[in-house]
Amino acid sequence: MHNFEYYAPTKVVFGRNTESETGKLIKELNCQKVLVHYGGGSVVRSGLLDRVYGALDAEGIPYISLGGVVPNPRLSKVREGISLARQEGVDFILAVGGGSVIDSAKAIGYGMANEGDVWDFYARKRTASACLPIGAVLTIAAAGSEMSNSSVITNEAGWIKRGYSSNYCRCRFAVLNPELTCTLPDYQTQSGCVDIMMHTLERYLNHGTNMEMTDGISEALLRTVIKSARTLRDDPENYEARAEVMWASSLSHNGLTGCGTDGGDFASHQLEHELSGMFDVIHGAGLAAIWGSWARYVYRARPDRFASLAVKVLMIPEKSSAEETALAGIEAMEDFYRSIGMPTSLRELGIEPTKEQILELAEKCSFGNTRTIGIVKKLGREDMAEIYRMAIG
Ligand code: NZQ
Ligand code: ZN
Repeated sequence: MHNFEYYAPTKVVFGRNTESETGKLIKELNCQKVLVHYGGGSVVRSGLLDRVYGALDAEGIPYISLGGVVPNPRLSKVREGISLARQEGVDFILAVGGGSVIDSAKAIGYGMANEGDVWDFYARKRTASACLPIGAVLTIAAAGSEMSNSSVITNEAGWIKRGYSSNYCRCRFAVLNPELTCTLPDYQTQSGCVDIMMHTLERYLNHGTNMEMTDGISEALLRTVIKSARTLRDDPENYEARAEVMWASSLSHNGLTGCGTDGGDFASHQLEHELSGMFDVIHGAGLAAIWGSWARYVYRARPDRFASLAVKVLMIPEKSSAEETALAGIEAMEDFYRSIGMPTSLRELGIEPTKEQILELAEKCSFGNTRTIGIVKKLGREDMAEIYRMAIG
């Protein structure tokens, strides 16, 4: 087992009607003025936003609001938020929404607490030394931003999507009411399930040894999300399945399933971020579309780990070799994705990058041929281009 630090400081308030506690949670933190940040309107239509305002009013907490965050959240909205929050003397940001809203809130928090251009952090030009406190009322189980150290923003200048990670941005609290996710369109629910699984899979497929505990947690999480995704396909209002998926979302990306590993692979994530930066696709669906091609490209580097996935998560009987079992597992994972309406190729995702676009994706993903991605197998620019090509389908 490798050395590790596990830091998950977010207070989780889980269950039905928990959004009514939002005011009290902010009051405990002694904050004076809140920016309520939200997306394109689902929280207005569902009545959630009004209930959150009610919870703030009940505690006498002043607030202003800024909606309009889009999926694959944009830098321009972040800049708008920073200038509004400065003008209004905001000292707490409450994200009411999904990963996009939480990530936008985190970016505004960085912009408020540090001098200079906030994009510098995402462009890896410098590091942040603080972030305004953030809280989240989660409406979709997917990105795990409610407990993660990460924020992912798209800069419209060049359509570059970049993540920035630091512990400063971890949410102070996350209100997790599974009922809030019942209004999600099916495709979005299932994209979320893929993303949740991928956050653990990226950590599970590694070169580590002796991680019985972490492996067991990961396998249970993956099996639970597979089972719950199938339940939700047939019965979208099933509270227990919504609850399992929501808790899995937070545990899958708060570091727990990476404890003792040699770090996450995250190549599929890096490859996908370029896709959603350039083509504005849904992140989880993009992961489903690219994963099989990535897996086939790299599995020979660690056939035993892929074989474990096949046997312990996908319940495939062992074949005559680890490589054969691994391949059967990759196919079974893709079958599962298809069974919940997820794409397993870029064409099914609805995009067909040209040769030039593939080169551009690989160029961007390799930061102009200056970095490799992945740990199962290190991938350079040409490998990335090949995986994109394989994924077209
Ligand atoms: O904007 P509204 O109207 O709210 O609609 C949203 C949006 O269209 C809708 N939605 C959310 N909750 C709903 C709902 N519709 C009906 N009922 C509800 N209860 O769903 C759509 C997607 O929302 P979004 O916030 O984009 O989803 P998600 O949580 O999947 O976030 C995706 C973003 O997170 C990033 C992704 O790259 C992407 O930009 N990620 C962030 C990570 C992190 N910070 O740790 C890690 C991830 O790997 C990921 O990269
Ligand atoms: Zn993800």
